[in-house]
Amino acid sequence: MFELISNPWDVLESEFPAMGTPAEQMRFLLNYAVLAPSGHNTQPWLFKIEDDTIELYADRACALPVVDPDDRELTISCGAALLNLRIALRHFGYRDVVQALPEPDNPDLLARIHMGDKIHAGEEEHVLFEAIRRRRTNRQAFEQREVPADILAALQKAAHAEGAWLIILQTEDDRSAVADLIALGDRVQLRDKHFRRELAAWVRPSRSQRSDGIPMYALRFGDLMSYPGPLVERTFELGNGQAARDRQIARGSPVLAVLGTDVDTAYDWLAAGQALERMLLYARSQGIWASFLNQPIEVPDMRLTLQNMLERAGFPQMLLRMGYGPEMPPTPRRSVREVLSVI
Ligand SMILES: Cc1cc2nc3c(=O)[nH]c(=O)nc-3n(C[C@H](O)[C@H](O)[C@H](O)COP(=O)(O)O)c2cc1C
Repeated sequence: MFELISNPWDVLESEFPAMGTPAEQMRFLLNYAVLAPSGHNTQPWLFKIEDDTIELYADRACALPVVDPDDRELTISCGAALLNLRIALRHFGYRDVVQALPEPDNPDLLARIHMGDKIHAGEEEHVLFEAIRRRRTNRQAFEQREVPADILAALQKAAHAEGAWLIILQTEDDRSAVADLIALGDRVQLRDKHFRRELAAWVRPSRSQRSDGIPMYALRFGDLMSYPGPLVERTFELGNGQAARDRQIARGSPVLAVLGTDVDTAYDWLAAGQALERMLLYARSQGIWASFLNQPIEVPDMRLTLQNMLERAGFPQMLLRMGYGPEMPPTPRRSVREVLSVI
């Protein structure tokens, strides 16, 4: 029996139970899966291990019904955890054999992952693995330094590899139109008391001992979310200030990009999550940070507007900004013990 790690960020590669059973090895690898990003840091995933197989379930108890009524972002978050697990499997020398949504009658079962044959992973995969523990959502302002074109092309390739696409907004007109849409999205969302209440429920004081939610230290100073929770919930007029700050931060970011898919089913959301995490890991391996401004995708009418602005048909899933910038501390995670399902 191997010791369980209480904080997954502390996982050490050297502690991989090479002589353990497949189930023990799979349990160890889940420490990497749970380091994935998730909407409001809800960590909406549960896992079940049987021998050399892991089942990934959506934990709909962590849903965000106001901002994400269809569990689209919830499924994207689970897709990001799935990608981490796949990369970790390959890093430790096993093929990642994945069945997405294997049981149509059981929509909560998002994927079944088997530990496949022994393989030698490529250098690129080891690089992505190293980035899992260094990735964070970085909401600070980025430097003006441009991201080189070959890195942008590699990010697009990473999205394609998982069945999604990435459009990088190039012209000033496009960047400005999307920044305006983000600002409008802030105003629409923050007018809604249900949205504010849901957000407030997941923002935590910086010294909180909770293992989920967004600690204030991860937020930009002056951000709406950096107000104490009850104030966010009660204050209506924060929307305009937030809109102005978000417009400015969007316009000032070297890269503004839309990750999307051709179709908009749970299967595509799971793919988008894997594409997102593959991109984020690659970006981090190149010293680049990312954060999200998803407001226009979360408001249905605005998603349509954004969709019509893009050069290709399909469905926007995530709106990202990227660039170089200062370090960030990690946000809390539940331990593997807490996300192992006892179904
Ligand atoms: C599907 C999804 C949607 C997200 N939407 C937003 C967003 O709109 N704004 C934001 O600031 N962060 C957003 N995030 C980032 C999460 O808040 C962040 O991943 C979480 O708090 C954990 O922190 P970490 O990414 O630094 O580990 C999103 C993340 C995911 C996976």
